[in-house]
Amino acid sequence: MVETPYYLIDKAKLTRNMERIAHVREKSGAKALLALKCFATWSVFDLMRDYMDGTTSSSLFEVRLGRERFGKETHAYSVAYGDNEIDEVVSHADKIIFNSISQLERFADKAAGIARGLRLNPQVSSSSFDLADPARPFSRLGEWDVAKVERAMDRINGFMVHNNCENKDFGLFDRMLAGIEERFGSLIARVGWVSLGGGIHFTGDDYPVEAFSARLRAFADRYGVQVYLEPGEASITNSTTLEVTVLDTLYNGKNLAIVDSSIEAHMLDLLIYRETAKVSPNEGPHSYMICGKSCLAGDVFGEFRFAEELKVGDRVSFQDAAGYTMVKKNWFNGVKMPAIAIRELDGSVRTVREFTYADYEQSLS
Ligand SMILES: Cc1ncc(COP(=O)(O)O)c(C=O)c1O
Repeated sequence: MVETPYYLIDKAKLTRNMERIAHVREKSGAKALLALKCFATWSVFDLMRDYMDGTTSSSLFEVRLGRERFGKETHAYSVAYGDNEIDEVVSHADKIIFNSISQLERFADKAAGIARGLRLNPQVSSSSFDLADPARPFSRLGEWDVAKVERAMDRINGFMVHNNCENKDFGLFDRMLAGIEERFGSLIARVGWVSLGGGIHFTGDDYPVEAFSARLRAFADRYGVQVYLEPGEASITNSTTLEVTVLDTLYNGKNLAIVDSSIEAHMLDLLIYRETAKVSPNEGPHSYMICGKSCLAGDVFGEFRFAEELKVGDRVSFQDAAGYTMVKKNWFNGVKMPAIAIRELDGSVRTVREFTYADYEQSLS
């Protein structure tokens, strides 16, 4: 029996996403690379590897993890590389994508042995939230000036564009891609590959995967390019829960339940994006505000409904806890870091990692 808190990755649910990704790969000819920034729990890479083409990264450590733990095709990207890391990055990567022309110029020679690309910024995105909008005013994420990019064409043979953000709307994806074609089409026709980034929720239940795949194939054919996708969230959506236990209940005008976890430490994006956690089925006559155990006054998972009154020792399970959670967990307040457990396809649950006081101590000095 695993002690709470722990993240529970359900391989059957993960497989469902993987099968959708594999279907899109087959129908569209696009390759799919797992975006490690979103999910890097390598204990399930043995499963994911059979359905995806490799990984993409945001740093030296991610590209190394991708190479060593996932294998297959390994893309390197970073907002900026330092002189002290570029050689190692190149040693782990099949392709490197530079964020700016100045980084390309600085490191093109060091990366001469692998494929090189440049990030383009079409200055339009599907995000309406400034913090997460790669097309926000004055964005540092990619080059947008066609004339400037034109002058770098002799040093690259690919592009990466990432301007979708939790985009569930195929029509919007299609229109934005048309905008990219209009603006950068003459340059795209001169390279061998284009990554369209992540942020496309094509593993969602109602997503029109056939139309999506056809659109990708048409794009690839029109420009003669290999298309890549970099699904993060779409790869692991709905595959994982965060399992916690009620430590205390109180009534302060509302029913409150305090659990052995914390949004700031274990589901940080809820705090950053001002969202609430998800509890399923979230039904019943008893309403509780579920709160974390850190000192942060606003450490609140959300308000949910339950069939029974909550009492100390009860289990609460937060849904959809894989993306941008396990990669961001931290030791704030010294709250015990959630263990990682996997529900295998035969239903058995295996703990793959537990964190102890020694891990906490060693994360500091
Ligand atoms: C360049 C790039 N690729 C892929 C992703 C993965 O996005 P998502 O997890 O929304 O699919 C991101 C997310 O920020 C990104 O910046």
